[in-house]
Amino acid sequence: MKDSTIPPHQNTPLEENRQGEVLEMTQQAEVYGNNGKKFYIESYGCQMNFSDSEIVASILNQEGFAITKDYMEADLILLNTCSIREKAEDRIRKRLKELNVVKKQNSDTIVGILGCMAERLKTKLLEQEKLVDVVCGPDAYRDLPKLVGEAETGQKAVNVLLSREETYANINPVRLDNAGVTAFISIMRGCDNMCSFCVVPFTRGRERSRNAFSIVAEAQDLLDRGYKEVTLLGQNVDSYKWTNPETQEVVNFAHLLEMTALVSPQLRVRFSTSHPKDITNEVLHTMAKHENICNYIHLPVQSGNSRILDLMNRTYDRDWYKERVEAIRRIIPDCAISTDVIAGFCSETEEEHQETLSMMEYVKYEMAYMFFYSERPGTLAARKYEDDIPLETKKRRLREIIDLQMQHSLERNQADIGKTFKVLVEKVSKKSPDDYCGRNDQNKMIIFPKGESQVGQYITVKVNECTSATLKGEIVEYL
Ligand code: SAH
Ligand code: SF4
Ligand code: F3S
Repeated sequence: MKDSTIPPHQNTPLEENRQGEVLEMTQQAEVYGNNGKKFYIESYGCQMNFSDSEIVASILNQEGFAITKDYMEADLILLNTCSIREKAEDRIRKRLKELNVVKKQNSDTIVGILGCMAERLKTKLLEQEKLVDVVCGPDAYRDLPKLVGEAETGQKAVNVLLSREETYANINPVRLDNAGVTAFISIMRGCDNMCSFCVVPFTRGRERSRNAFSIVAEAQDLLDRGYKEVTLLGQNVDSYKWTNPETQEVVNFAHLLEMTALVSPQLRVRFSTSHPKDITNEVLHTMAKHENICNYIHLPVQSGNSRILDLMNRTYDRDWYKERVEAIRRIIPDCAISTDVIAGFCSETEEEHQETLSMMEYVKYEMAYMFFYSERPGTLAARKYEDDIPLETKKRRLREIIDLQMQHSLERNQADIGKTFKVLVEKVSKKSPDDYCGRNDQNKMIIFPKGESQVGQYITVKVNECTSATLKGEIVEYL
């Protein structure tokens, strides 16, 4: 292995703990390339990007590229990028500069940028900043081998065309998480909601739903290969809608959930993300009906104030959101709810910020991803509203939100002490090699001494202690 002058990833700050984070990749060791070339891929941003990297890996494998975990030996280095906040893009620029060191050592190495930043900046990174050889947007991954071929002959290769149809339905993703217990399944792409702060509709294009049978077949295939949990992914899963071309029958998200749950009682089903305007009682009843659909809903609120929600173009108000939370509590009494919050959106007053805090008090979220507003070029908010909240104010409001959430997470976790939960054993705990960790139905991570348990097995754990982030317990039953 050649020496590396590239520093390891730095930890991300608390407010950047989901989108914008490097999703850790324990790459599959399988090396089934036959063209003598190796590629390395890093994923940033949301779970959908991580899932896309698995599609990219499959497309490149088909063309004979092998996967490597070591970018120093790669012929092709790919970054699957995120544009959601300015900081997310800054990190990628920094990373690209670091990776240019590899190019200096081996001028044949091709560096490619994929995902949302590729889509947003198009040829800019290639022409003005001269940081990459290949630019490939989220709907153009089938074209990637051709683009790499062009780059190898010294041409600059770009495809950022968005599609109305592409769902990669027939591509069997190469699973990059080698634990083999949990997997993501993309059920749709793009987003048709025009939340005024959000860049996703511009980087991912129009919303389209994937063939329901291909989704169920993927879940079945995963089960056959020993997987025990699938997470159905979309920016707004509740607007999933697929029409069977043969029968004209319409499959909505509630139907799809049920179809996936029926694959096997042994296969847990999760999903993300739900939009408060679209989550239906039908979905909630389907969750309540099937034991293997996990009782956990990520329901981003963004703000607790109706005027700000209107400016954000979220198309619901405070009362609507509260009613949806009540419906969840009524239909699925033990359902955990988490959220996303944006502090300091354009023109937000102190009173309006207080309403976000009071909404948090009302729901007492199990967990939250919290950000301060970052203006994104081209979005509705950037065009219509002034980004007028001073950075210090944004940061102070965010801090108040984070502090309150820490308190709520702790309270919620403390309420679990003494209870027992069914847990899927996922992996060795980062903190201790003698412990495993896994999540309960409510998506809470629980750490426990390994005992006789094995990764991929269901067990029952009794919770004995907690912090605001995790629960600790002991195995009481092997299932
Ligand atoms: N589709 C999901 C969210 C996807 S983006 C939904 O509608 O809920 C993930 C989160 O990033 C958002 O929920 C929002 O809280 C945050 N986010 C998006 N754009 C942002 C911006 N410009 N500044 C700060 N946070 C932003
Ligand atoms: Fe962005 Fe809104 Fe679509 Fe979510 S629903 S991806 S926040 S536009
Ligand atoms: Fe980021 Fe694109 Fe996901 S902007 S959050 S990677 S859809």
